[in-house]
Amino acid sequence: MSKNVVIAIDGPAGSGKSTLAKYIADKLGFLYLDTGAMYRAVTLDAIRRDVVDDEKKVTAISETISLDMEYTDGVTHVFINDEEVTDFIRTPEVNSYVSPVARMAGVRKALLELQQKFGEERNLVVEGRDTTTVVFPNADIKIFMVATVEERAARRLKELEESGTKITFEEVKKNLEERDRIDSSRAIAPLKKAEGAFEIDSTSISVKDEFEKIVKKLAEIDKKFLSHLS
Ligand code: DC
Repeated sequence: MSKNVVIAIDGPAGSGKSTLAKYIADKLGFLYLDTGAMYRAVTLDAIRRDVVDDEKKVTAISETISLDMEYTDGVTHVFINDEEVTDFIRTPEVNSYVSPVARMAGVRKALLELQQKFGEERNLVVEGRDTTTVVFPNADIKIFMVATVEERAARRLKELEESGTKITFEEVKKNLEERDRIDSSRAIAPLKKAEGAFEIDSTSISVKDEFEKIVKKLAEIDKKFLSHLS
């Protein structure tokens, strides 16, 4: 294959983007980029500095933050100034502030530049809200994941319970619906299906079957590409 391949995965919270993206990265040896983790890290830093409602200050954080991400053993490890914050970026508090932060134009601009740098040299699987529409509109494969809100809430509840958070199904569902509303209606890079994207409904299909669909698409791009896979 002459150039690096970019697979971009978009869709609402809990639709299964991360599960599929990690599966692809593990199977194909692609670099995995979780763009949501970047918005979460900026949000966490702003909460800690008690400036999360101040757009100017949050934007300044996004422009100067020392952010490192390493994907190992199925987990994106996130570091701010060398402090590991992997667990702290997925709390209910960050969940409730991250959509307003992700709506800030300056924050989006700063993170967009960082994200596009990742795609310059290596085969990449990237997931996040505007990765198919804005960050990599020319990605080789664009996927829009969907699932029912009940299924998405059940998945998030399980994740939160596993990390020891006490929360009800109704609360998780309400938070998801609120985030969908903000993310779909915001002026910049709203959540929407990109032109040329194909849809996968993860409510009732296994990640293995989702992957098979991607492999078929890759084979359409370059038949030789998959020959190195066992
Ligand atoms: O995928 P996630 O739940 O970790 O995303 C966290 C928030 O960041 C969510 O509200 C959507 C937003 N986001 C975004 O606006 N653009 C991205 N590329 C990734 C995430």
